[in-house]
Formats: sequence, C-alpha cells, structure tokens
Amino acid sequence: MQNLRYVGKNLFIEKLSIKNILKKNKTPFYIYSENQIGFNFLKFANTFKKSNPLICFAAKSNSNLNILRILGKLGAGADVVSGGELLKALKAGIKPKKIVFSGVGKTEEELKIAISKKILLINCESESEAKLINNLAKKLRKKVSIGFRLNPNVDAKTHKNISTGKAENKFGLSIKNFKIFLKTIRSFKNISLDALSVHIGSQILNDAPFRKTLNVMSKLIKELKLNLKYVDLGGGFGINYTDKEKPINLNKYSKLVHNFSKKLNCRIIFEPGRSIIGNTSLLISKIQFIKKGTNKNFIILDAGMNDFMRPALYEAFHKIIPISKNSSRMRGKIEFVGPICESTCKFGVYKNYPKINENEFVAITNVGAYGSSLSSNYNTRPLIAEILINKNKLRYIRKKQNLQKLINS
Ligand code: LLP
Repeated sequence: MQNLRYVGKNLFIEKLSIKNILKKNKTPFYIYSENQIGFNFLKFANTFKKSNPLICFAAKSNSNLNILRILGKLGAGADVVSGGELLKALKAGIKPKKIVFSGVGKTEEELKIAISKKILLINCESESEAKLINNLAKKLRKKVSIGFRLNPNVDAKTHKNISTGKAENKFGLSIKNFKIFLKTIRSFKNISLDALSVHIGSQILNDAPFRKTLNVMSKLIKELKLNLKYVDLGGGFGINYTDKEKPINLNKYSKLVHNFSKKLNCRIIFEPGRSIIGNTSLLISKIQFIKKGTNKNFIILDAGMNDFMRPALYEAFHKIIPISKNSSRMRGKIEFVGPICESTCKFGVYKNYPKINENEFVAITNVGAYGSSLSSNYNTRPLIAEILINKNKLRYIRKKQNLQKLINS
C-alpha cells in the first residue's frame, strides 16, 4: 500500500515516520492514512462507475465519526445496523436518503428513529419485522420504503463465522419463504417493497459467489415480475491480508452488475466495509516484555485482544512488522501475544523474525476494518486512541478513553 511503506529502515504513514509520531504518543493506538481511505473509495466507485451505484459504507467495519465524515464528503452513504450507527451516520453529515438499515433484530425504538429520519431503506429480514414496521408507520402516518433481505443460499467460500448467505445462517428469508411473504405484504398498506437486498458474507476473495447471487436475484425478480427501485447487493469484497492472497478483482462482476441494473431498470446499492477501510490502518504497539518459553519465545505487546479482536475471533492473520527494520534476525520461533488473561490473546507466530527488543515498537497491519469497531473494555482497559494522518498532518480522531470515567461503573 503506497501510503504505508518503509523509507530506508523506518516505517512511514503518508509523510510521517511512525518513529516520530511515537515521540508524542503513547501506545497502543490505531493510525490511519486519509489518502488511502479516499483512494480505496474512489477506486471502488470507479470500478462500478457505469452502473452509478449508491455506495453505502458499512459503518460496522469502522464507525469512527471522522472516518464517516471523510467518506460522506466523498459521496458515500451508510449501511447501518443499529440506532447508534444510524445517528452517527447522520451526525457525520450523511443524508438520510443515502442510509440503509440492515439487521435481523431491529428494536421498535431503532425502527422509530429510522422512520422518523426518513432514511432510504429499511432492509427488513422477516415477516414479523415487516409487520412491526407497518404498524409503526401507520401510527406515525407514514409510508415506509423497505428492502427485503433474501438468503440466496450461496456459499461465499469464506470463514464460517463470516458467511451469511447460506440456508443455515440467520440472515434474510429463503426464496420459498419470501414468495409466501409476498402474499401477506399486500395487506401492509404503510410499507412499500422498493428493494431486494442480499449480503452473502465477508472477506470474499473470488467473484464466483457474487456472480451466482446475481443470477439468483435476476431469475427471481423476473419470475415474480417485481418492480423495484433498488437492488442492494451488500458488501463482502475481500482484501489481501497475506502476501499470497490477491484482493478480489471486480471488473468482470461490474459488467454483469451493469447489465443487471439496466435490464431491471433499478439502481444498485453496495455496502462495502472492509475493502474501503481495511488496509488504511496500523495498530502500533510497544513490546512490553520478551519472555522465554519452552518451544518459542513470547513477545508480549501492550495491545490486547480487547483492542483488536480479529485474531482471537477468527484466527485471522495480520502481518506484524517492526517500526524500524533491523537486518539481523532472531533465532527460532516467536509468538506475539497480548496482556489479556486469555489464551486467545495472541497475534501470530513467526520464525527468524528481524531482531526486536523490549521497549521497541511493531505495527499490526490491515486493521482498519473491524479493528477499532470490535474493540471493548474487557479487563477494564480504556478504548485506545485513533489518529488520522493526512500528508504530514496528524489529527486525533478519537482520544484514548478516560480511565477515571471507566472505573466509575
Ligand atoms: N452489509 C451487511 C448487511 C453486513 O452484514 C456486512 C458485514 C457488510 C455489509 C460489510 O461487509 P464487508 O464489505 O466489510 O465484508 N467482524 C468480521 C466481519 C463481519 C462482517 C459482518 N457483516 C471480521 O472482522 O472479519
């Protein structure tokens, strides 16, 4: 990634060296490249330019207000999954007519906010939810646009914990049940079925599952003669976390999407998260201690699984690189671990790693998506700072949470 690179021995983010940034900032912290955020968003938009889709950034992947603001200014809408995310997207200046609301268990309170703020679509996932939206809309004397989420039963060929489009997953309605539901929806006078939506999973590196899903949707819409304003094709586009992986190539898919939208005369919505924000950030951490183990040495970092959950949750690989390169190597195996009292608080095993010492620093890479947004106060640890770099300018986009406040509840 061009905005995160070594200049000589030192790791830089845009025009600033991490070494310099560390002089005034305590670890651990997240650091982002604003230039890379813009680059990723515009690249995605450009890939699908012909279809002119509405690109609703999946706020769950990173819900930092300033990041939402940056993307909003670039033209992004938002895909939200809670009342909190919805209010944050609005606060970031994203127009209600660019917001879609997904999720299997939206509460009455959340739905009321969505209805009163007049967002573009509530992506409804069950008959009971449709009934509730209809009742609320009736009380509020509104007609509400909904999208209905389908479960196309397509295998996204990704980690089982982030696969969402198979029959066994809780998301959406099966085609069979959707057809039954279509008969009921006619009696719901305060909602209008304006869209269908799908989201088959995350970190998908091959376009075949997306093409398959598009076929399923196309067939169904024709068969049922649905007249839709939008088709929401979700997110899920994968990035390369390892040197061997290649990010998904969307050129072929983009042509199919264009034909699809032309034939059905509907606007396409996408909900990308990871592909926009994943590779824009590093988690900078200090080596607290190095301790000898039986078969390997433990490099104990000051960042824990509460700060960055992906390795513990999905055994996800995130390459760890030194802030300053050293040409000599450490012998044998090392394991990067965090301080939390859980065996899953670990970040990866390496052999013959470049020599590093206690009190030196490393960067955990590609942490922009589902990094900060999944972090927690586990072990009563404050949420860590988030810093945004633009060229040679540094901005705090979240201050480290105040410990004093944290210990009061
Ligand atoms: N739309 C919906 C309805 C979703 O559920 C998701 C992600 C997205 C869009 C965005 O997907 P993306 O483009 O980021 O792949 N915490 C996990 C990922 C969970 C994804 C949940 N849904 C991880 O760290 O890998």
